[in-house]
Amino acid sequence: MTEPNIIAIDGPAASGKSTLAIHLANWLDYLYFDTGIMYRTVTLAALRAGIDIENEAEITGLANRITIDVKSPTPGSGRTYDVTLDGLDVTDEIRTAAVDANVSPVSAYGGVRKAMTEKQRAIGSRGKVVMVGRDIGTVVFPEADLKLYLVASVEERARRRHQELLASGESPDYQKIAESMRKRDDIDSHRSIAPLKPADDAHIINTDHLSIEQVFEQVKALIR
Ligand code: CDP
Repeated sequence: MTEPNIIAIDGPAASGKSTLAIHLANWLDYLYFDTGIMYRTVTLAALRAGIDIENEAEITGLANRITIDVKSPTPGSGRTYDVTLDGLDVTDEIRTAAVDANVSPVSAYGGVRKAMTEKQRAIGSRGKVVMVGRDIGTVVFPEADLKLYLVASVEERARRRHQELLASGESPDYQKIAESMRKRDDIDSHRSIAPLKPADDAHIINTDHLSIEQVFEQVKALIR
């Protein structure tokens, strides 16, 4: 078996990318790198600074000024990573509904994408990495050795996110989650720069009726 050095996993929200990536990274002893974290952190920084989300110039300036760091999780925290914004922990805050609602417009800005893509390439080019996002196989690492593109119906994806939030003690509204996901999918796939779409050479996996283990087994078979 020759392990692929860079594995790119793209797809819409809650299609199963992160879970698959964590399994693969553990199995291969690779770095797991979720690029959505970076766009979420820029969005949180903009919300905190009170910048209008439509103000592209200010948000781009902010994206170039802030320091985002993703590290191994605090032991015992149950997290898969810790993320800091200018040195302060924001791991939980980047997953709030306010960030969900504003992250897609922020990540459609060319200057924001340029700043984030450069950081992602610097980290990913060290190799032995499983990278997750929307444009990894198409823009960030078109030369990735293995490209996976996960899809699932919006109903199934909203159901999964709803379950996750329930499990974390929140009282989520399924319809609101589905609506927010539809909006995000729409902006992500129709933006002019680096839209969400499979690379020509990506393996497309529909996870609608597959368990986590079944998806993992399929991908292991591809690698072998
Ligand atoms: O976890 P979930 O799939 O819901 O979202 P995420 O992967 O954390 O990504 C949040 C948002 O960041 C996406 O909806 C995209 O707008 C943006 N994003 C992007 O544009 N490019 C990436 N490589 C990763 C995320």
